[in-house]
Amino acid sequence: MKLLVFGANSQLGRELCTLLTEREVDFVPLATDDVDLLKHKEVVKAVTRANPTQLINVATYANLQKAEADAESARLCDLVNTEGVTGLARVCGQLGIPMLHHSSSYVFDGRKKETYTEEDETNPTCRYGQSKWYGERALREEAEKHIILRTDWLFSRYRSQYFQNLIDTCKGQKGRVSVVDNRFSPTPASDVARVILGIALQVDCNASVWGTYHYNAMQPVNQDAFVQLALEEAAKHDKRLEKVMPDLAIELLPVEAPYIHNSALNCTKIMATFGIKQRSRGPGVVELIEALYGVRKKTPAAKAKPKVEVKPQAAVEAEAPPSKKGKAGPAASRKKTAKASSPRRAKRPARKAAGQKQSPSP
Ligand SMILES: NC(=O)c1ccc[n+]([C@@H]2O[C@H](COP(=O)([O-])OP(=O)(O)OC[C@H]3O[C@@H](n4cnc5c(N)ncnc54)[C@H](OP(=O)(O)O)[C@@H]3O)[C@@H](O)[C@H]2O)c1
Repeated sequence: MKLLVFGANSQLGRELCTLLTEREVDFVPLATDDVDLLKHKEVVKAVTRANPTQLINVATYANLQKAEADAESARLCDLVNTEGVTGLARVCGQLGIPMLHHSSSYVFDGRKKETYTEEDETNPTCRYGQSKWYGERALREEAEKHIILRTDWLFSRYRSQYFQNLIDTCKGQKGRVSVVDNRFSPTPASDVARVILGIALQVDCNASVWGTYHYNAMQPVNQDAFVQLALEEAAKHDKRLEKVMPDLAIELLPVEAPYIHNSALNCTKIMATFGIKQRSRGPGVVELIEALYGVRKKTPAAKAKPKVEVKPQAAVEAEAPPSKKGKAGPAASRKKTAKASSPRRAKRPARKAAGQKQSPSP
């Protein structure tokens, strides 16, 4: 098995390359500096040169807000997520190389109450979601041997700004933060890397498993419950935060476009087909918080060195969990707030009235 990884510098790409290195899988990582997805001739050359048994694409344009805000970003979003994927799919189709492509729960409109299955009708409501959906469609048309893996919001130590903002705001505003009232299933990028490797190994055994699959961590949560879990974890390493935690009040803001109400996915099919079980997000949150506080400096993943240049985290703009215009600071407040219970448990907080608010965003 030899894997060619496009998007090796993304948070998911880095986790994947780390895992492949640990497992001694033969792979070639490609970042934008190596090959720009938008330069088709370079893409063809790179694929031919690497001659992989499978191609994995986790490259993306993922800034939802910018894609809505200006025409140039919208165009780039379409180019990377649709045209870029079409180009890759065409090469794979022509050369008979199986292609695994990572997509997003934002192909749905978020109106469903339950988790989304692969059979649910897609109806993207934002530019990013549309571009991912068109990318999926092109892949289905161009390459018979394809796997589309949709996930919900990802987090990792490479994308910790959301958590840092949250902690800073909570301390700065004496326990008052505000988040969007959405339901999602945040998933450690390292867990998705595990899933991708699991699929790749079965494809390598000639399993005929082409199609679309969903994966995210167990148990969808509302963003306030997720935020509370992260803050409680952080408070274990932060005296100032620990002090304000008894006054924690999480205000809930309405979900506004381009974000959607519910982005959690049903993972029955991936379990039935590949035997891939959903994991808890808890250990991923603990690991990320410990990394933020420098508690666990050398995780096994951090020790491995994939052949990928690591860019500063701040340089990466991301698909973010729903936030109020992606900024901390005053925002049109709604009604609900949540008061923290005793630390440790991520149970849904009780409501109380609040004043100031904050909208964490990566
Ligand atoms: N983040 C989430 O919450 C989330 C949720 C659901 C699904 N997904 C999907 O998961 C995948 C990975 O997401 P992520 O958060 O790990 O992404 P990310 O960290 O935002 O990284 C995106 C990567 O795409 C690469 N890229 C952008 N334009 C490119 C181009 N023209 N040619 C080649 N590479 C290009 C960038 O490469 P450089 O750094 O080299 O510029 C960057 O490393 C995507 O398919 C995304 O849609 C993500």
